[in-house]
Amino acid sequence: MGSIDMDIKAPRGVRDILPGESWKWAYVVRTTAEAMADFGCSEVHLPIFEQTELFSRGVGETTDIVEKEMYTFSDRGGRSVTLRPEATAGMVRAALENGLCAQGASAKLWCWGPMFRYERPQKGRYRQFHQIDMECLGVSGAGADVEVIDLSAEIFRRLGLRNLEVVLNSVGCPVCRPVYRQALLAHFEARRGELCETCLGRMERNPLRILDCKNPSCGAAADASPAIYDHLCPECRDHFEEVRSGLERLDLSYRLDKRLVRGLDYYTKTAYEMLSGDLGAQNAVCGGGRYDNLSEAIGGPHLPGVGFAGGLDRIVLVMEEQGCSFGRAPAVRVYVAALSDEARSAVQVLTHRLRRHGVAAEQDTASRGFKAQMKSADASHAAWTCIIGPEEMEKGLVTVRNMADGSQASLAPEAVPEFVTKEGNQPL
Ligand code: HAM
Repeated sequence: MGSIDMDIKAPRGVRDILPGESWKWAYVVRTTAEAMADFGCSEVHLPIFEQTELFSRGVGETTDIVEKEMYTFSDRGGRSVTLRPEATAGMVRAALENGLCAQGASAKLWCWGPMFRYERPQKGRYRQFHQIDMECLGVSGAGADVEVIDLSAEIFRRLGLRNLEVVLNSVGCPVCRPVYRQALLAHFEARRGELCETCLGRMERNPLRILDCKNPSCGAAADASPAIYDHLCPECRDHFEEVRSGLERLDLSYRLDKRLVRGLDYYTKTAYEMLSGDLGAQNAVCGGGRYDNLSEAIGGPHLPGVGFAGGLDRIVLVMEEQGCSFGRAPAVRVYVAALSDEARSAVQVLTHRLRRHGVAAEQDTASRGFKAQMKSADASHAAWTCIIGPEEMEKGLVTVRNMADGSQASLAPEAVPEFVTKEGNQPL
């Protein structure tokens, strides 16, 4: 049956992750989970929707995310809720609400799952996408920033990704950013004519965001703009220097980019991204940074934090492009076929026995003929086929066929699980 043209389709910008891809996702998540554990991070599962205020106050009213990309609706009780556009604000809320950072404790948490943003869909950009997110809460020192960047780099190293670049910046803090903002305003004021409509609007609301504009003319104006490094307060400057020297100590190379401002308002000090040379326009596989004032913005106490999120959809895309390994694809080891109708119950019992022994086994449950079953066995790339027919039934045996060379053995059903898993018995 080919694909069916129906009126009801998946909404624009969302997609189904089908069997051909889902096992690759499982590999990436498994590899990530191992690296997270090696860095002392605990996995959490948080709600997919939250009170809208969490994001409007946490992510920032003037961000594209809050202004035009959130899936916000009233629930049946008339409360405004929003499908999470990102995980950081929810992580901080959960840590506060559950007292994970009480009495000066710190916490390293990670999660993965779907996020939702009403963006213009294109390659690597979806309206439902998936992030691997990690947050280190309760630590203000630069060592945590270095550890976070190191962890993200380690995940990508284990996944075999090449051609990645770490781009680093500092976005300062409420002490130094207003000073920088004035310097930026003065710069862009003198070059108003070069700015696009959107950036002219940004002049009043958030001039830092002009640095991020993809419009070539705004880009040229941004390239010539004053650098934030020259305006950092002593505390932010020291922090930045410590992050840089920490990365250098670990041999993690990076490029400084004064135009890296990130699309979320909560950042303070460190901001970074990891870019892939193999993704086209949506080239960020990961982004993160420090957000020392996010907790206060959502009504909590002072709780410094630093973290990152990697885009799972994009990571898989780049890995496919680069021919990275996803480990072993799920495969049927044994196909159990019935040569006659009478043998079907014996097939069911043997398949059950194999699975009990942890052997991936498949059988026909649609009462198809032997030829059709053998076709399925071939299509499944099973290493072995077990055949049960009248003769086998009579002798209480099973014919076990090595699918690579066609050789056969007659075995008692109890001996089959061990036989098909034994080293040295394996078909090439
Ligand atoms: P972000 O840069 O908005 O940061 O997203 C992180 C990553 O998610 C991006 O680098 C990209 O790989 C992926 N991503 C974002 N939007 C889409 C989309 N529409 N389609 C596909 N992939 C996408 C954050 O979300 C911050 N919460 C990261 C963070 C954690 N900062 C501190 N802690």
